[in-house]
Amino acid sequence: MAKRTLKKFEEFTGLENSLEFPQEVKGKWKKELFKNDNPLTLELACGKAEYSLALAEMFPDRNFIAIDKKGNRMWRGAKTAVEKKLSNVLFLRIYIEDLMSYFDENEVEEIWITFPDPFPRKGKAKKRLTSPRFLKMYDQILTAPGQVHLKTDDKQLFDYTIEAIEAEKWNVNDSQQDIYGSSKMDPLLKIQTYYEKLHLEDGRKIYYLRFGR
Ligand SMILES: C[S@@+](CC[C@H](N)C(=O)[O-])C[C@H]1O[C@@H](n2cnc3c(N)ncnc32)[C@H](O)[C@@H]1O
Repeated sequence: MAKRTLKKFEEFTGLENSLEFPQEVKGKWKKELFKNDNPLTLELACGKAEYSLALAEMFPDRNFIAIDKKGNRMWRGAKTAVEKKLSNVLFLRIYIEDLMSYFDENEVEEIWITFPDPFPRKGKAKKRLTSPRFLKMYDQILTAPGQVHLKTDDKQLFDYTIEAIEAEKWNVNDSQQDIYGSSKMDPLLKIQTYYEKLHLEDGRKIYYLRFGR
């Protein structure tokens, strides 16, 4: 591992708002970790966690957990949250496949999935964060009528997700094939992630889906 990456990993571990593969947190996020009963939003595949940071500032009466498997990427978001004294956001290093070990049924109100790896090869479809096995997990941890937001630059993943959510009997509440081409853009969609900026520089369109029960 490069020295700079290793340093970020180590620093991430020491930050007061970071948790790495924690034990016995399931069902305890609101009362014991955030010490309030505010609604909980997860950002999956968060990278540097731009969404969690921006939403935590916009909605001080909600709780946010940014989730990724890479501590060196989350380090940026976690450090910024400490500097800005944001007490309503935590940074959780886990594998999203293990979500059910960390969250109880009906513990989460909302999920954002921001530019997940698209896994274009059919043989890897099970790894897509909107494949049926992940949708089933989201269904369990979300309260009704929980909402899932997906932002992606990948048309194939966007189309695949619509098919998957219809097959799993979720409702599509919003579907946009070019968010920046819309005359009335939702302010929440204006938050840009690191990968989103790269895709926009490459002239790619940004797709958005919101679905729920
Ligand atoms: C393309 S990046 C997007 C990062 C960020 N959301 C953005 O838009 O800049 C995908 C992220 O998903 C994370 N990731 C991929 N598979 C994962 C998994 N199974 N569990 C947790 N994180 C995962 C990677 O570490 C990476 O940070």
